[in-house]
Amino acid sequence: MTAPFDPTAESVCYLNGTFQPLSQCQISVLDRGFIFGDGVYEVIPVYGRRVFRADAHLERLVRSLNAVEMANPCTREDWLALVREVIARNAQDDQCIYIQVTRGVARRDHVFPRGVEPTIFMMSFPFPHIQADKRANGVACITAPDLRWRNGHIKSTSLLGNVLARQLSAEIGAAETILIRDGWVTEASASNVWVVRNGRLCAPLRDHDKLEGIRVSLLEELSTEIGVKLDFRPIAEWELRCAEEILLTSATKEVLPVTSLDGRRVSEGRPGAVCQSLYAAYQAAKDVQSS
Ligand code: PDD
Repeated sequence: MTAPFDPTAESVCYLNGTFQPLSQCQISVLDRGFIFGDGVYEVIPVYGRRVFRADAHLERLVRSLNAVEMANPCTREDWLALVREVIARNAQDDQCIYIQVTRGVARRDHVFPRGVEPTIFMMSFPFPHIQADKRANGVACITAPDLRWRNGHIKSTSLLGNVLARQLSAEIGAAETILIRDGWVTEASASNVWVVRNGRLCAPLRDHDKLEGIRVSLLEELSTEIGVKLDFRPIAEWELRCAEEILLTSATKEVLPVTSLDGRRVSEGRPGAVCQSLYAAYQAAKDVQSS
């Protein structure tokens, strides 16, 4: 018998003050992250060992902590130093840094505990580059009702609604589940959604129903750079269904074309010009905006 393959064995993590292999990281079962999903997180892309838009990610982490009334346990400089140390201790040049902060370990009680230290966890995983054929041909998505809570703007570890939504697409081999609430597009299970209509790039309004991805302000910059007009406005489900292009963005997907929706082709079923230009601009931005 050979030992089961452990893809995580070499990964070095940070947990509450010490660096250790992932397989040795342990937390109490009373951790409120485990018991209640009472925590927040970030996923930060790293290219060539340089962090992409670090400040924006760390600022969002602070916004999430504030939103759930948790004190920020580190200064910006401390966060950055920890992130850099985790990067240095792991083998890959392109990584994703996952940060999770929970309200800590306490007797099970819904009420916030007093005087409890937060749990701070950071791990690295190899950057999951999208396969070349998916980049070239685009991916399939399905739609589903957005049944999650109304605080999607908080990057909370309470992701059961997102998990259930994502499972729907995974089961039929699709890449994402695009969520619709009351006839309007919100986002996808783990990505932001964009459409191209009449040559203009459109993104749903930035509000509490959805997470404002770090790529939202980035695409705002990049659309100006490539000369495409961008509107933030409500996007109706019917507009999604007849869009010229549909795009997904996230830390790991970067800018990804959707070429099939609920089993029907999006336009010609090929990645569109806006998506291709934005992807190229994104690749260039990685060089200049990583540090
Ligand atoms: N998810 N919306 C949701 C619900 C998300 O989970 C994510 C990212 C995004 C895009 O945000 P950003 O551009 O900052 O990655 C939007 C991460 C990657 C995850 O949970 O793994």
